[in-house]
Amino acid sequence: MPGIVIVGAQWGDEGKGKITDLLAEQADAVVRFQGGNNAGHTIVRNGKTWKLHLMPSGILQPGTLSVIGNGVVIDPKVLTHEIEELSRSRVDTQWLRISANAHLIMPYHLMLDDAGETKLGKLQIGTTRRGIGPCYADKASRLGIRVQDLLDEKILKKKIVAALEPKRLSLRPFAKDPRLDLQTITEEYLTYGHRIERYISDTSRLVLELLDADKVVVFEGAQGALLDIDHGTYPFVTSSNPIAGAACIGAGVGPKDIDEVWGVTKAYSTRVGAGPFPTELEGTLADEIRERGGEYGTTTGRARRVGWLDLVALRYASRINSLTALAVTKLDVLSGLDTLCVCTRYRGAEGAEFDYFPYHQTVLHHAVGEYVELPGWSEDLTGCRNEDELPAAARDYLQFVADFVRVPVALIGVGPAREEVIWTPASAEMAGGVGRLATA
Ligand code: IMP
Repeated sequence: MPGIVIVGAQWGDEGKGKITDLLAEQADAVVRFQGGNNAGHTIVRNGKTWKLHLMPSGILQPGTLSVIGNGVVIDPKVLTHEIEELSRSRVDTQWLRISANAHLIMPYHLMLDDAGETKLGKLQIGTTRRGIGPCYADKASRLGIRVQDLLDEKILKKKIVAALEPKRLSLRPFAKDPRLDLQTITEEYLTYGHRIERYISDTSRLVLELLDADKVVVFEGAQGALLDIDHGTYPFVTSSNPIAGAACIGAGVGPKDIDEVWGVTKAYSTRVGAGPFPTELEGTLADEIRERGGEYGTTTGRARRVGWLDLVALRYASRINSLTALAVTKLDVLSGLDTLCVCTRYRGAEGAEFDYFPYHQTVLHHAVGEYVELPGWSEDLTGCRNEDELPAAARDYLQFVADFVRVPVALIGVGPAREEVIWTPASAEMAGGVGRLATA
């Protein structure tokens, strides 16, 4: 102990990478527990921008173990490329550990993701087309190929044959595609195996040993609560569970190993891909916030949909994650707006009001936000390092959020660089003294 989970409290892209990177400084290990290279973290360090997809954010912190847990789906082509890129930039990757039980994204998963989306036409989910869904589907069907299989050619080949068999029909258009040639796939994946062999380990045991020794372990979620396959806006979700409970499964620890759960939220909302978004903005205000916030996907470059902060959804995210603290990012982006709206209730198609996140998909699709208007501020916030330095209106905005969600704000992002944050007194109360160390 202590185990600290960092999760997205919205639809992903909340700035988890930056928060994890900051906490990694005080941590002994950072563990990713779900998702794959559908995620993208942007971290700005010493003027250099890092775009990571698979690597845990701790990789930039020398001496901090960076663990890719069993719950992650790994595209080894992307992984080996990221390792090479980091090495080229003189980042030491000797602290990387990869779970032998993590599942691998195979070339046919990419094809199936692509074909699936194309077939859905207008109904498509807007996936990142990185093969995430088909890989998790194979895992559940017990047809997945795992990292450990890379170390045994015979087993690898056998498992690929078994995995390909039931897909014959859907992959028929690609019958002659060299990407589906058994020998080519086997050889390619064996090469990846050789490249990552030194990092493969029993990461569950490793993490439990650290927790037993009272070390600080940060569990880093990808995506966000509203993209959760069970609790999100299904079917417009990802294929894993980005909520805190999944940290246990995806890293191989027990619920009692978790002490803190931090939910990261932007000061407004964004969403990539299709699906309901009750507080969505359109027109010039949306364009303005998108440009100021640089709201374009790290992974796909897609323009993000933009909206007001949705407190109904945030309170829901807090409940399903047991949030102990909030990290509110990109507060600076809202500077210069006369009035800020925060959604405190939904109104359904027939005028019904919802204080809670509606469970029924149809209701949610027609729900629109009802707002409380709060005064904005005009000051540039990027230089603020203390809550007292924030304009009163910005402090009131944060207080309104904390009171509504009933979770304290521990950290406030006021700019893209890692030092452009404010640690509030609430962060000092954190288990393991991580926040206290950071504020000292
Ligand atoms: P998939 O995870 O590629 O299957 O995509 C499913 C949905 O999750 C799509 O709407 C994606 O845009 C969304 N999604 C997946 N990863 C992220 C992320 O890291 N940030 C934001 N949205 C994401």
